[in-house]
Amino acid sequence: MSLPPIAAQARQITKSFGNGNAKVQVLHGIDLDAYESEILMLLGPSGCGKTTLISILAGTLTPDDGELEVLGEPLHRMKSSAITRFRAKNVGFIFQQFNLIPTISCEENVAVPLLIQGMSLSKALPHARKSLEEVGLIEHRKKRPNQLSGGQQQRVAIARALVHQPRLIICDEPTAALDAENGQRVMELFRNLMRQPGRCAIVVTHDHRILRYSDRIATMNDGRIVESVATADFDFDHHR
Ligand SMILES: Nc1ncnc2c1ncn2[C@@H]1O[C@H](COP(=O)(O)OP(=O)(O)O)[C@@H](O)[C@H]1O
Ligand SMILES: [Mg+2]
Repeated sequence: MSLPPIAAQARQITKSFGNGNAKVQVLHGIDLDAYESEILMLLGPSGCGKTTLISILAGTLTPDDGELEVLGEPLHRMKSSAITRFRAKNVGFIFQQFNLIPTISCEENVAVPLLIQGMSLSKALPHARKSLEEVGLIEHRKKRPNQLSGGQQQRVAIARALVHQPRLIICDEPTAALDAENGQRVMELFRNLMRQPGRCAIVVTHDHRILRYSDRIATMNDGRIVESVATADFDFDHHR
C-alpha cells in the first residue's frame, strides 16, 4: 500500500529558549512526517516539547535549525510575512482552553478569523454557519459560549479553526478540559473532518482514551521523537 502525500515534514528541527547560561534546548533534532487524510497524535510527558513542536509546525514559532515543509511550502526558507499569510490560509489551531469570546454569539466567534482577515461580518457569517453545521451546532449559532456545555464550546472552537477551510489542523490537547463522553464526540468529529480530501490533523494528547481515533502515534520524550507507529501497531499496554 502506498502512503498518501505528505502534509507536513520536519527534518532535524532544533529549538532552544533563553540565552547564555540560561539557554535551554527544548527540541533536539525532530524528524516527523504527517500525511494527508490522517490524524497523527503526539504523545509524551509534560515539558517534553510537544507545544513547542506543534507551534513550529503551525508556523507560529521559528525553529533554530532544521527543515520544515508544510503543504509543499518550505517554511524554514520563508520570510515571516509569507509565513503569516501561509498560516492564515492553511492552518487551523485549536487550544486546550477554548479561548472563545464570552460576550458575542457562537456564530460571531466562529467568524472572527475571517474578520481579522478583513472580511465584512455579513460576508463572514455564512461561512461561520457552514462551519457550525460541520460540527453539528448550527441550531446553537445565536447563543453565547457560556450557554453551551464544555464539549459544545470546544466544538465551537473547532468550527472557528475550520472557518477558513485550512488543510492542516493542529490541536493542543483538545479534549483535556472535557469529560470522556465529550472527548469522544470531539474525536469522532475529527474523524469525519478527515473524510475531506487533503486534510491532516496533528493532535497533542495526554488522553489515552482518544488514541484509538488516530491513524499514527508519535511518542516524544525530552525533545526527541522516540517512536512513530501506525496506531494498529501501538503497544497500548506498554504505554499505560
Ligand atoms: N517561551 C518559552 N520560554 C522559555 N522556555 C519555554 C518557552 N516555551 C516552552 N519552554 C520550555 O520548554 C519546555 C517544553 O515546553 P512545551 O513545549 O510547552 O512542553 P509540553 O507541551 O510537552 O508540555 C519546558 O521546559 C518549558 O518550560
Ligand atoms: Mg503543552
